Amino acid sequence: MKLLRTLFAGFSALAIATTAHAAGGSKHADAPEGGWPFAGPVGKLEMDSVQRGYQVYREVCAACHGMKLLSYRNLGEKGGPFYDYEYPNANDNPLVKEFAAMDEILDPVPNDSGDYDYRPARPSDPFRSPYPNEQAARAANGGAYPPDLSVITKARGHGADGEGASYVYRLIKGYPDPETILTREGEDGLNENYIKFDDDKTHGELVQPLGQYYNPYMPGDVTAQWDGDPRHVPYGGFLAMAPQLTDGRVEYMDGTEATVDQMAYDIAQFLQWAGDPKQSQRKSLGLPVMIYLVLLSLLLWFSYQRIWRKVGH
Ligand code: HEC
Repeated sequence: MKLLRTLFAGFSALAIATTAHAAGGSKHADAPEGGWPFAGPVGKLEMDSVQRGYQVYREVCAACHGMKLLSYRNLGEKGGPFYDYEYPNANDNPLVKEFAAMDEILDPVPNDSGDYDYRPARPSDPFRSPYPNEQAARAANGGAYPPDLSVITKARGHGADGEGASYVYRLIKGYPDPETILTREGEDGLNENYIKFDDDKTHGELVQPLGQYYNPYMPGDVTAQWDGDPRHVPYGGFLAMAPQLTDGRVEYMDGTEATVDQMAYDIAQFLQWAGDPKQSQRKSLGLPVMIYLVLLSLLLWFSYQRIWRKVGH
C-alpha cells in the first residue's frame, strides 16, 4: 500500500503543479490583459490571431525584418496558421502558393547565361529577405540592424512562457504618444525632439538622439539624455526603429478592427508561432501522453498486486 500512496502523492503533486501553472503561474507582468491563449501546458495558439499576425508581418515588418528560418510552406503545415486538411502537403495549399507568389525573390539557381534572375517565390522558398546582406540593411537604417525575427520571441524571453511574445507586444505598442514628442532648436542649431515628463514622480525632459526613438520597454539607460531629477530617470532605452503601428495600419482580411493593440497582439502571437512552429502539436500530444502514462502505471500496479497475491513476502 505504501507504493500506492507514494504514487498517488506523486500524481497529486503533478496535478496541482499543472493547474497552478495553467491558472496564472506562468503569467507575468507584461503579458496582455487576460494572458496569452498559448500559455500553460494545455494552452493553444489562437490561429486567427496568428493569421492576422502574418498579415501584419507581410505588410509592415517585412519591409525591414527578414525571417530566414521560415519557408512559405511552413505557413500551411500542421500547426501552422494556414494549415488546411485538404492539402496535407503544404506545397499544394493554394493560399500558401498565393502568398509565396506575391514575393519576388532572387532565384538561387543561375540561368543559362550564369546570371541570377528574379522570380515569384514558391512555397518551398525561404521568406523573402528585405535586404541582400547586413551591410545593405544597416545602410538603409541609419547604421542599425533590424534583427531577423524568426526566433525573436525566444531570443528576448528568459524562459518564462510567453515572455518573449510579451516583450514584442509591449515594445511595438509602447512608444510614447506622438503628441508628447516636441521639437525645438538644439544647441547645435539643428532641430531636436524631446519628451516632456510630468507625472506624480517623474518631471523633466528627455532628448531623443537623432534617428533614435525612446521606448520604455527597450532595455537601456537614458540617463545621459535626461534633464530632470536624477533619481527619477525614466525606464527604458532608445532604439533605431521608429514607431510602426497606427490604428488602421493594415486592413485585416477577416474584418477585425486593426487597432494598435490588436496588431501588436497578433504580430506577437505570429512571432511566437514562428519561433516554435510545432508547439501546438507538442502540447496537444503532451496531455494524452500523461493520461496514458498514469493509466498504464495504475494497470501495472494492480497486475503486480494480482500476480504476487499468493506469494508471501
Ligand atoms: C523601417 C524599418 C523597420 C520596420 C518596418 C520595422 N522595424 Fe523593427 N527594427 C528596425 C530596426 C532598424 C531595428 C534595430 C533597432 C536598434 O537596434 O536600435 C529594429 C528592431 C526591432 C526589434 C528588436 C528590439 C530589440 O530588443 O533589440 C523588434 C522585436 C522589432 N524590431 C520588431 C518589429 C516588428 C514586430 C515590426 C512590424 C510591426 C517591425 N519591427 C517593423 C526597423 C524596422
